[in-house]
Amino acid sequence: MDNFQFYSPTEFVFGKDTENEAGKYVRKHGGSKVLIHYGSGSVVRTGLLERVKKSLAAEGIAFVELGGVKPNPRDTKVREGIALAKAEKVDFILSVGGGSCIDSSKAIAAGVCYDGDFWDLYGTGLEIEKALPVGTVLTIAAAGSEGSGASVITREDGLLKRDACSDLLRPRFSILNPELTCTLPAYQTACGATDIMAHVFERYFTNTEEVEVTDRLCEAILLTMVKETPRVIADPNNYEARANIMWAGTVAHNDIVGVGRSQDWNSHCIEHELSGLYDVAHGAGLAVVMPSWMEFTMNHNVMRFAQVATRVWGCQMDFEHPENTALAGIRRFRRFLSSIGMPINFEQLGAKESDIPLLAKKMGINGTTGGFVKLTTADVEAILRIAAKATV
Ligand code: NZQ
Ligand code: ZN
Repeated sequence: MDNFQFYSPTEFVFGKDTENEAGKYVRKHGGSKVLIHYGSGSVVRTGLLERVKKSLAAEGIAFVELGGVKPNPRDTKVREGIALAKAEKVDFILSVGGGSCIDSSKAIAAGVCYDGDFWDLYGTGLEIEKALPVGTVLTIAAAGSEGSGASVITREDGLLKRDACSDLLRPRFSILNPELTCTLPAYQTACGATDIMAHVFERYFTNTEEVEVTDRLCEAILLTMVKETPRVIADPNNYEARANIMWAGTVAHNDIVGVGRSQDWNSHCIEHELSGLYDVAHGAGLAVVMPSWMEFTMNHNVMRFAQVATRVWGCQMDFEHPENTALAGIRRFRRFLSSIGMPINFEQLGAKESDIPLLAKKMGINGTTGGFVKLTTADVEAILRIAAKATV
């Protein structure tokens, strides 16, 4: 196991009706004038926004609001938010929605405190030195942004999807009421489940040896997702299954299962080019990319792929030919994704094979990427070619 530091300052408030305490937690974490940030309308339709406003009013906390965040959140909305937050002298950003809304909130929080254009902080590794505090009321288990220090924004000019990371972007509090996720369409539930599993796999495929505790934690989350996802798709109001998925989504990405080990993240980087170019859901893009990345890289450490195949997917170990076990596990993963309604190839996703060179080039790889297996631009093209034609 490698040396590590783990800092997760977010206060998680989990369970039924907890959104009614949003005002209390904003006050506790120092907010006195709030920007409520939300998406394209689900929180208005469900009445959640009204309940959150009521809880702020009950604490005597002033607020302004900005809705209209789209999935794959855009730089233009962030700029609107920064201008509004500055004009209104806001000191706290409250995100009410999913990962897109949280990421846009984080970008506003950093942008308000940055002298230049906030986009300088994305995809450049430039250190974020200051940010307003962010709190969240989460409505979809997926991105894990409610506990992560990451924010992913798409620049409309050139459709570039890039991220910024800093512990300063970790939310001060996140309110997680699984009931709020019951209104999700099955497709969004499945996209979220796929993203949660991908966050685990990006950490599972490591070059660090002797990482038993985090391996086992990763496997626990994967097994939970394999059990609970079909349950919520069949019965969207199953509170207990929703609750398990919601907590799985948070621990899959606040890095508790990734400490002390090298990680990969190339599937995410490849996917960000797909959702950047085609504006598809991040989870759907991952369903197409991740099993294909696995097929391409499995010979790098076939025993690690065989391990997950036996422990999570229930495959029989073929000791003479462990590559057969590894491959069987990848097939079961792809079949599982298809069974929950995810696309598994380019046609189902709405992507074009003729765009493969463009997608790979847009990643801007200089030599090779980092990660479990270092990839060249040609490797990315090869992975995308597998993805284009994948079948179950
Ligand atoms: O906009 P509204 O009307 O709220 O509708 C949303 C949106 O259409 C809808 N939705 C959310 N909660 C709902 C609901 N509909 C009904 N009932 C509810 N309770 O679902 C759609 C998707 O929402 P979105 O916020 O886009 O989903 P998600 O949480 O999957 O976020 C995806 C974004 O997060 C980024 C992705 O790249 C993508 O841009 N990621 C962020 C990460 C991070 N910050 O740490 C890590 C991830 O790997 C990921 O890259
Ligand atoms: Zn993700």
